[in-house]
Amino acid sequence: MSGDLNARLADLPGFPVLSGQRLRLRGPRADDVDAVFALFSDPDVMRYWSHAPMRERMQAEGKVEEMLEAFEHRTMLNWLVADRRSDTAIGSCTLFHFDARHRRAEIGYALRADHWGCGLAAEAVALALDWGFRTLALHRIEADIDPRNAASRRLLLRLGFRSEGLLRERFFVGDDATDSELFGLLAQDRRRRDG
Ligand SMILES: CC(C)(COP(=O)(O)OP(=O)(O)OC[C@H]1O[C@@H](n2cnc3c(N)ncnc32)[C@H](O)[C@@H]1OP(=O)(O)O)[C@@H](O)C(=O)NCCC(=O)NCCS
Repeated sequence: MSGDLNARLADLPGFPVLSGQRLRLRGPRADDVDAVFALFSDPDVMRYWSHAPMRERMQAEGKVEEMLEAFEHRTMLNWLVADRRSDTAIGSCTLFHFDARHRRAEIGYALRADHWGCGLAAEAVALALDWGFRTLALHRIEADIDPRNAASRRLLLRLGFRSEGLLRERFFVGDDATDSELFGLLAQDRRRRDG
C-alpha cells in the first residue's frame, strides 16, 4: 500500500493547503486569473520556459481551468503560492508526471519577479517536497531545468537535489535548441537533511 501513489492521490479530500512561515500553497480559484496572468506574461519569468509568455488574459483563464481539471483527474498538483497574510498569489509550484510504479514525480516552480531573492521559492518548494515525500510516499522527485537558469540551479542544490546529467539540445525554445539538466532528490536525501 505504501507504494500506491494513485490511491494516495485519489484519497485526497481536496486541494492540499500547505502553510509555511511567509507563504501558503493552495489550490487556484477563479479570482486568481489576474495574478496568474501577471506571473506567466512576464518575459523575465518565462525566459527559460519552453512556452512563450502569455499575451492575453484569456490564456490565464484557460490555465486556471486546466489546473483545476488536472487536480480533478489527479494528473497534476498545481499549487498557487500565496502570500500568507494577504492570500495574493505570487507564484506557482507544481508536482506532475506522477509515475506510480516508480513512486516518482517531477517538480516545477515560478515566482513573480518582484519577489525574487528573498528565499520565498526555497520555502515554497520545500513545502511541496516534504508533502510529496510524506503524503504521497514518493521515492524520488526530479526537476529538469535549463542549465543557464542560475537561480533555479542554485535553488535545487540548496534544497539537496543532485545534478544527474546534461541532456543536450533536448528542447526547442523558439528556434533555439536548448540543453536540459536533470536533477534528482530521493526521500532519503531529504530525511538526511532533516535529521
Ligand atoms: C527560480 C526562482 C523560482 C527562484 O526564486 P527565488 O525566490 O528568487 O529563490 P530563493 O530566493 O529561494 O533563492 C534560492 C537560491 O538561489 C539563489 N539565487 C536566487 N537568484 C539567483 C540568481 N539570479 N543567480 C544565482 N543565484 C540565485 C539564492 O541566493 C539562493 O541560494 P542560497 O540559499 O544558497 O543563497 C525564480 O528565479 C523564478 O521564478 N524564475 C523564473 C521561473 C523559472 O525559471 N522557474 C524554473 C523553471 S523549472
